[in-house]
Amino acid sequence: MLSPSKRWRKEQPLHSLTSCVRRVLCSRRHSLWILLVLVLVCIAFQTFVARQARNDKGNEVPQLHFTVNKPQSFSLDSILGNFWSNSAETVSPGLSSSLHSEKEADSHLQNEDFATTPNRFSTKRSYKSTVSKFRHFSSSKFLPSSSIPGKCKEKTHIVFLKTHKTASSTILNILYRFGESRNLTFALPLNKNSQLFYPFYFAPHFVEGVTSHRISEFHIMCNHMRFRKSEVAKVMPRDTFYFSILRNPVSMMESIFIYYKSIPAFHGKRTLDDFFNSSKTHYNASLVNNHYAHNILAFDFGLNNSATFDSPDLEKQVSDAIFAIERDFGLVLISEYFEESMVLLRRSLCWSLEDVASFKLNSRSDRTRRKLSPETADKIKKWNALDWRIYLHFNATFWQKLDTVIGRQQLEEEVSELRALQAELAGVCLKDGGAVEPSKIKDAGLKPFQYGAAVIQGYNLNADMDNRTREMCERLILPELQYTERVFVRQFPEKAPWHKQALNTGQAWPRAKRRFTHLKMPQSALSQHNKPTAP
Ligand SMILES: *[C@@H]1O[C@H](CO)[C@@H](O)[C@H](O)[C@H]1NC(C)=O
Ligand SMILES: *[C@@H]1O[C@H](CO)[C@@H](O)[C@H](O)[C@H]1NC(C)=O
Ligand SMILES: *[C@@H]1O[C@H](CO)[C@@H](O)[C@H](O)[C@H]1NC(C)=O
Ligand SMILES: *[C@@H]1O[C@H](CO)[C@@H](O)[C@H](O)[C@H]1NC(C)=O
Ligand SMILES: *[C@@H]1O[C@H](CO)[C@@H](O)[C@H](O)[C@H]1NC(C)=O
Ligand SMILES: *[C@@H]1O[C@H](CO)[C@@H](O)[C@H](O)[C@H]1NC(C)=O
Repeated sequence: MLSPSKRWRKEQPLHSLTSCVRRVLCSRRHSLWILLVLVLVCIAFQTFVARQARNDKGNEVPQLHFTVNKPQSFSLDSILGNFWSNSAETVSPGLSSSLHSEKEADSHLQNEDFATTPNRFSTKRSYKSTVSKFRHFSSSKFLPSSSIPGKCKEKTHIVFLKTHKTASSTILNILYRFGESRNLTFALPLNKNSQLFYPFYFAPHFVEGVTSHRISEFHIMCNHMRFRKSEVAKVMPRDTFYFSILRNPVSMMESIFIYYKSIPAFHGKRTLDDFFNSSKTHYNASLVNNHYAHNILAFDFGLNNSATFDSPDLEKQVSDAIFAIERDFGLVLISEYFEESMVLLRRSLCWSLEDVASFKLNSRSDRTRRKLSPETADKIKKWNALDWRIYLHFNATFWQKLDTVIGRQQLEEEVSELRALQAELAGVCLKDGGAVEPSKIKDAGLKPFQYGAAVIQGYNLNADMDNRTREMCERLILPELQYTERVFVRQFPEKAPWHKQALNTGQAWPRAKRRFTHLKMPQSALSQHNKPTAP
């Protein structure tokens, strides 16, 4: 027997419903009745469609779902050129993303799940979700359209001008992983070199597969080169997206001073102040590799790097440089705002946030960082006046772009989502939770290249991972030279049969180190072709 109170609770809804229905009927408000029926039919239909779509995997039935996007204004085409391939109209994100294919909808739902799970770092469930999400994205050919509203097609024709000491190795890793998972073709340096014969101006025959016509279409070019648009355009498709990254020239020069200690300009100089005390009288721009010491950003972009603050034509050089970079590049990122840069990048490329998740690669141990006095910083700004002005300009336009394209609030949300994802990945992949000194790296094949007086940190992987997770994690931390080799081997298996074995046994590294020839141009690349002009 039910207690009276329980019986009351049990009967109450029924009772109230019937009375309600009676009231509606008796009052003869037919219009209200019809409305109620319509609403019920609507809800039933929607539920049916949603269930149908979920049950029927692989079927391309459009599905209604809700996204976590905040409303934003998305008339981006006008702002950033041909951003989204297919949206002439301004679309409201809620509406535009409500009709997606099943697979896309799936990734939306995963993101929704990700965004609304508060304590996702420690739970087993979230571990699995990250890993499966990464697998999903790295194997899927579908656009993981994580909260990019509107229709856009992910860009796969890309040139990244890799600059020096600007976190560009981390971006290289992002591009390698993206390309590898989609079977894209990279424009790699000839003969397994690690760079496109920097510091020579780029020429098409520097790229493996160009002269031999072995490759018909290149997707991504991202190794070190001295940029020359007209020549790069001969190799890359017309719709290629060009981007690069700048760093504050002050901290950049501190980094370069430690890393490129052996160049003539820095030879015998204990500190940067020593260098500046003698640079006016002793700096010789025509000595090989001295360009590292002077306006290296301008140099990498293919520009004249000779300007200092007292050059009579500094203003003209500055405006010419800015004009050239803005003409040739769709996007210029800022190293100091790396996560913000990644958010902007993935929107420009129509990639998912997962595609731009990364661990910091090729970064220096704090042991080899030097604090600079304000006086020294000032000397650097004057000496590298051209770089400094370029940086100030593109730092300003970077933030303008962020404001127009994303807005500060949405930016903040995406940046923290990216950081959370990266923290979660670190928890899954990394043994010590973060970077370690090179001497502590156990797997020789995962040790980053050491150079100059800098100590470049690396990572150790967790021990107990299944093969697929390990594979994912390995790709995230694989240093630049090893990854370049790996991509080369994949693309030109016939050119490196011995290589594959070497990579598997972790023996590839010493060989790669020997081939690190960024300081001189191999004659083999020059012999049968026009000699590129030395800078
Ligand atoms: C990747 O591309 C190569 C040729 O470029 C092709 O032979 C191979 O089948 C492709 N693999 C996949 C998984 O699409
Ligand atoms: C640089 O030169 C100035 C004077 O010309 C001198 O006072 C200063 O100590 C020098 N600094 C170094 C690091 O040699
Ligand atoms: C600069 O280096 C070049 C090339 O080695 C040399 O010919 C020239 O004499 C040097 N100039 C000065 C001022 O030392
Ligand atoms: C770079 O500019 C300086 C001054 O404007 C000029 O003297 C020099 O010849 C230029 N160098 C090259 C390689 O064009
Ligand atoms: C770069 O831009 C940001 C945002 O406007 C600003 O806070 C920062 O001071 C700028 N950096 C430099 C070196 O001017
Ligand atoms: C995992 O990889 C190891 C060697 O790398 C192999 O021996 C093992 O069979 C793999 N396990 C699975 C489940 O594929």
